[in-house]
Amino acid sequence: MYIVMLGKPGSGKGTVGKMLSDLLGIIHVSSGELFRNYIKRAGKIGEEIESYVASGKLVPDDLAIKLVEKRLLEDDCKKGVILDGFPRTVLQAEELDRFLISQKEKINVAVELELSDENIIDRILKRKECSNSKCREVYNLDFKRPKVADICDVCGSKLITRQDDNIETVKQRLKTYHEVSANLIGYYKEQDLLYTVKPNLNSPDTSKIIVEEVNEYLKREHL
Ligand code: AP5
Ligand code: MG
Repeated sequence: MYIVMLGKPGSGKGTVGKMLSDLLGIIHVSSGELFRNYIKRAGKIGEEIESYVASGKLVPDDLAIKLVEKRLLEDDCKKGVILDGFPRTVLQAEELDRFLISQKEKINVAVELELSDENIIDRILKRKECSNSKCREVYNLDFKRPKVADICDVCGSKLITRQDDNIETVKQRLKTYHEVSANLIGYYKEQDLLYTVKPNLNSPDTSKIIVEEVNEYLKREHL
């Protein structure tokens, strides 16, 4: 099964994607995390990626596609994948469709998390994440505080703020979303693969409720 997570930066793709991955027993692959790992390792590719990520621009399609497809060929992706942050352009979506056909696979559903820009900025500026690349648990100083300040509840590593989580870069990421990535909504709607969920901002259990809704949808559609 292949599930694509769509939505603005900070809409909860990572949070919901990881919960869906636990529930369905298939791996969660975030293109953003993949790229941040290249940046951490240093080297030419990492340097090139960093120049885009740090300014909130998209990594060029050819490089993004090459690195994500390489990741999708790894053994842990054989059972299916929750894809978070990829595709982000219509060209990436078309390439992904071609790649999946070559693997005798297809996308089962594209889940869109719909949230206003104001909510997004507030959420992102209050985000912290685990520095351990094997854990990467995501926190929020309002919604999901760590039990001990700046320490991960899951693995005990230090929490960090992402280099692209500052107001200027968030504004650029939102601009990029509206100008480029929002076109994916129409792309998947046309193929009848789009499932839109609107997080209920007044409920502390929003992410859990969304995961249950998506699971019910998958069962209803016999996916
Ligand atoms: P990426 O890492 O994908 O960043 P993004 O799309 O900007 O999304 P985020 O990871 O910021 O947010 P999210 O939707 O995962 O939300 P989260 O669950 O953390 O990409 C980073 C960069 O890499 C891009 O800008 C680009 O440069 C490059 N890139 C990546 N993919 C690319 C591609 N395909 N092509 C080209 N370039 C690419 O939640 C956000 C916050 O909200 C957290 O604090 C969380 O705790 C909180 N939260 C979550 N759910 C709730 C809830 N229900 N209620 C309250 N708070 C909540
Ligand atoms: Mg994320």
